[in-house]
Amino acid sequence: MGKDLNNSKPETSLQFIDQLQALIETIGNNGSVQCILCNVHILQYTVLAVALAYLYWKLFHQPYDLFMDFTELGFEDVDNPENIRNNTSRRNAINEMRRRKKNRKLPPAYPNGWYAVLESKVLKVGQAREMYALGNNFVVWRGSSGCAYVADAYCPHIGAHLGVGGEVRGECIQCPFHSWAFDGKSDGKLVSIPYSDKLPEFVKIKMWKTFETDGFIFIWNHAESLDPTWHPDEIPEINLNTWSYRGRSEMRVACHIQEIPENGADPAHLNVLHSDLVLCGDNPKESFFSWNFIKHVWKANWTPNTDDPNRRHEAIVKVNHHIMLFGWLPCLKINVDIHQTGPGIVALHFNTFLGKAVFIQTVTPIEPLLQRVVHHFYSSSWIIHPLAKLIIDGEAKQIARDIRIWNRKSYMHKPNLTKEDQTIKQFRRWFSQFYSEPKNSNLVELTSEPNYFCTNDSNANKLTF
Ligand code: FES
Ligand SMILES: [Fe+2]
Repeated sequence: MGKDLNNSKPETSLQFIDQLQALIETIGNNGSVQCILCNVHILQYTVLAVALAYLYWKLFHQPYDLFMDFTELGFEDVDNPENIRNNTSRRNAINEMRRRKKNRKLPPAYPNGWYAVLESKVLKVGQAREMYALGNNFVVWRGSSGCAYVADAYCPHIGAHLGVGGEVRGECIQCPFHSWAFDGKSDGKLVSIPYSDKLPEFVKIKMWKTFETDGFIFIWNHAESLDPTWHPDEIPEINLNTWSYRGRSEMRVACHIQEIPENGADPAHLNVLHSDLVLCGDNPKESFFSWNFIKHVWKANWTPNTDDPNRRHEAIVKVNHHIMLFGWLPCLKINVDIHQTGPGIVALHFNTFLGKAVFIQTVTPIEPLLQRVVHHFYSSSWIIHPLAKLIIDGEAKQIARDIRIWNRKSYMHKPNLTKEDQTIKQFRRWFSQFYSEPKNSNLVELTSEPNYFCTNDSNANKLTF
């Protein structure tokens, strides 16, 4: 029997449509699977690329940045169980330790010289900032010309803080309270009162002499208000951006400023405090590593600059450093030329086989027994960024070892020195040029208690030792 063609057509059509649908579904399904796989791959690759880019940036571009408060070094004893039992606040206990220091008579707290008040990069054109240093409140601003100005913070009208909400107008700082404006270019003169047409002639803010170089804004401090007799050295490789900025460290140190540069004239401490490898950290005695087979070995020679009468404010330390293996095999020799200029600026020039580099160290007294120590590191491009960061970290570990001592040591007016320590005596004679008060003696009574923090600490009265 022959097939009924009329009846078979719809049947075939239905089969065909079914087959087509099945094919579309199959393609559709495979397409989705591929598409999902594709999306997963794109996502994976994107995450990987972002992670690699971040790692690359961190390793090769992000500058090193470290902050260390003085409370982190040398005050570990406050964490003993007795203090915790007595509910003594850590900060309060540290302040008590600082108060107990036998440091009642000290050289003047703020020797004459240039001090860094701010790092240049944190003050953009048109910005104003508040700053506290030398026991004083400052407003620091950058006018539209790019010039940085520093003045006493309180507005002579009714006393608003010009660095808190004050606005920069041209070269002027405008007070946030009634908009009086003071011109940095005209020695802090009052130049505008928006609601009055009469300007009192005698009203001005106290301006501080400023000098900006090497990435810092410096001010001149002199106990008798004399003009500067010298200026911070300008390092062309920094100011002309020939060398790359590699990072910074900032540390607070609870001691008199003189103790810090005195370290450079004290060669005997180098092979005691700084001989353990930097990998042993800032407290080698407590370190997990005890790599006695490898040591830093130091030689240093401190001399005041007596050759040039215009550079009496300078002292030079020639440091010879190498790493010694097994006590007899010297390797990795690095020489450092340290230039101490005045009481608060040091340039440490390195000359390595990979190229030249410099640390700029600034020491600024915040209050009589508290210093802000900031290091910036610059190097030629031959010193690759990860290595530069290791150098900054190593330097920070080494200076932290000094800070642990400085935080707890007492200033000794008449130390007992051996003949090998004589450079300390020379240093003190050299450093005394930065004091102009009091006339007859170098020492002044410390009248205020350390109160850098916890002035309103609720545990203030709970201290029981
Ligand atoms: S307090 Fe500054 S303008 Fe009034
Ligand atoms: Fe040291």
